[in-house]
Amino acid sequence: KKVMRRMQKEMDRGLKLETHQEASVKMLPTYVRSTPEGSEVGDFLSLDLGGTNFRVMLVKVGEGEEGQWTVKTKHQMYSIPEDAMTGTAEMLFDYISECISDFLDKHQMKHKKLPLGFTFSFPVRHEDIDKGILLNWTKGFKASGAEGNNVVGLLRDAIKRRGDFEMDVVAMVNDTVATMISCYYEDHRCEVGMIVGTGCNACYMEEMQNVELVEGNEGRMCVNTEWGAFGASGELDEFLLEYDHVVDETSLNPGQQLYEKIIGGKYMGEIARLVLLKLVNENLLFNGEASEKLKTRGSFETRLISQVESDPGDRKQIYNILTSFGLLPSATDCDIVRMVCERVSTRAAQMCSAGLAGVINRMRDSRSEETLKITVGVDGSVYKLHPSFKDRFHTTVRQLTPGCDITFLQSEEGSGRGAALISAVACKMACMISQ
Ligand code: BGC
Repeated sequence: KKVMRRMQKEMDRGLKLETHQEASVKMLPTYVRSTPEGSEVGDFLSLDLGGTNFRVMLVKVGEGEEGQWTVKTKHQMYSIPEDAMTGTAEMLFDYISECISDFLDKHQMKHKKLPLGFTFSFPVRHEDIDKGILLNWTKGFKASGAEGNNVVGLLRDAIKRRGDFEMDVVAMVNDTVATMISCYYEDHRCEVGMIVGTGCNACYMEEMQNVELVEGNEGRMCVNTEWGAFGASGELDEFLLEYDHVVDETSLNPGQQLYEKIIGGKYMGEIARLVLLKLVNENLLFNGEASEKLKTRGSFETRLISQVESDPGDRKQIYNILTSFGLLPSATDCDIVRMVCERVSTRAAQMCSAGLAGVINRMRDSRSEETLKITVGVDGSVYKLHPSFKDRFHTTVRQLTPGCDITFLQSEEGSGRGAALISAVACKMACMISQ
């Protein structure tokens, strides 16, 4: 409850013009509004940058009775080489346009100038739906020369530099926004989007009158909370453990994204590894001997937490994981490792539920319904793949939100489909303006 209340306070400060600058939770306006102005139909190219992989998708948007439907018709995943992530922005965006070019070649579409929607999962200060500057990188990205610059401009420039295809970049969205929009067709009550994957974040529909950074008071606008940055002003200090400090200090962005570093898949495995090492050093685990692999930073990936906790109880799975680390665990060692994983992932689920409960209680307060019926569109590897994260998370969110009736909806291909849907609306608006 303490975390939830502090989060709500920061959200409020983030929305207000007067306090926005110093607030840790930025509450960024997305220019995605509640009153869609109609939509184009047809083929759209979607890009998805911000997780472990870069993806290119071709998405068809059509008109149905309930609104616009989408199908992903073709897609390709590209891994991002380390030097593209941490080199220069030019290198990163050249690599992205190389991937698009490869995709178009593969599907013989080089000649088509398609409208393109870009899911870019980092904090962006938008000026419009197709214009916004990157505030800071997160999740291990660090390409220089991008922060403070218009991301759509960087992409357009890279496409121009390459010169072998053309694209009409019409919209840029955060992954939380794309997720919310992609779930909206199935459930019109979906007014919140959340990601618990490599990183962690949420967006929701806020009353325009409270979005002080944008003029106008009518209707609602989607606000990208960027709650992962919570904690930067010390709000989490009393909850942070020695392991959290090590993870933070050894990261590419020390002092930043402290809330995200408790929850996100980029960090959870490393926290568990540090706890295990501490137990070894206190002679409570593996006979006091760690292997070289266990001593290696980043070696205990978050997916291993899911695997350990998926062990049916015979410890075979845990045993196999630990032997692959060059360890020879006893039955008790296996049980301790499981307990460590459970503690780390449960803490993550509960911390994350405080954030979502903060958002939902805020929405309930601003709407005059007896019970707030609301749907949350969710995506991300931690939420989807961990065996019990979502159950623990749902339980705590519901405990913290009396008077709210919450449905959780997992999005499928939310990033790609959501970006296409927003692009379809943006295209329509562009046509109306030019007419
Ligand atoms: C980014 C957010 C993003 C989240 C989930 C965070 O690191 O700052 O923009 O939504 O990760 O991908």
